[in-house]
Amino acid sequence: MSNELLAKVAHIGEALTPAPKITGFHHIAYRCRDAEETRKFYVDLLGLKPAAALAFEKDPAGRDMPFMHLFFEMGDGRFIAFFDEPSSADDDTFRMKDGIADYHFAFEVGTMDELKTFMTRLGEAKVPVFGPIDHHFCHSIYFFDPSGLACEITVRDAKHDAIMAAESDRSAQAIHEWTEKTRALKEARMKLFREAAD
Ligand SMILES: [Fe+2]
Repeated sequence: MSNELLAKVAHIGEALTPAPKITGFHHIAYRCRDAEETRKFYVDLLGLKPAAALAFEKDPAGRDMPFMHLFFEMGDGRFIAFFDEPSSADDDTFRMKDGIADYHFAFEVGTMDELKTFMTRLGEAKVPVFGPIDHHFCHSIYFFDPSGLACEITVRDAKHDAIMAAESDRSAQAIHEWTEKTRALKEARMKLFREAAD
């Protein structure tokens, strides 16, 4: 795919139509190595509800590409979704993802007891678990799903809303300062990549 389609921010000031409120994720979607293995992990172990498993023979452009789109429902009615697409599945796709270098997602539970119960349950299932980590505004455990995705389960601390309210007021300034501070490093790395590509 071409990088020409990436959004640029240069003209955002020209968007005069007010943004409607985004109410939350409907779903987030990832690749999975195997639909059945993924169902066992997210339904049988983590307790999500199997919501849909849609099998297709062609991709949206009409090319032959059998794939399954799986949806599992969380307690708030929103979904985590997966694509099982056998023709391009390889070990590199499903290597263990780094929670910072790649990405991770965080499920939420309502109490610290529930977080600890998940630690126990994952331990019983011989899934390696890291944590809990005290992030002050929340407490989290981390583990990997069978496809290499970095998963987090988190519970809000009693101070969560107060901490977030205080951070919210200064977040735009903090992002601006960070961007200024790291600009030289980013530009130096981009120059290296461009030179390597030439
Ligand atoms: Fe996180």
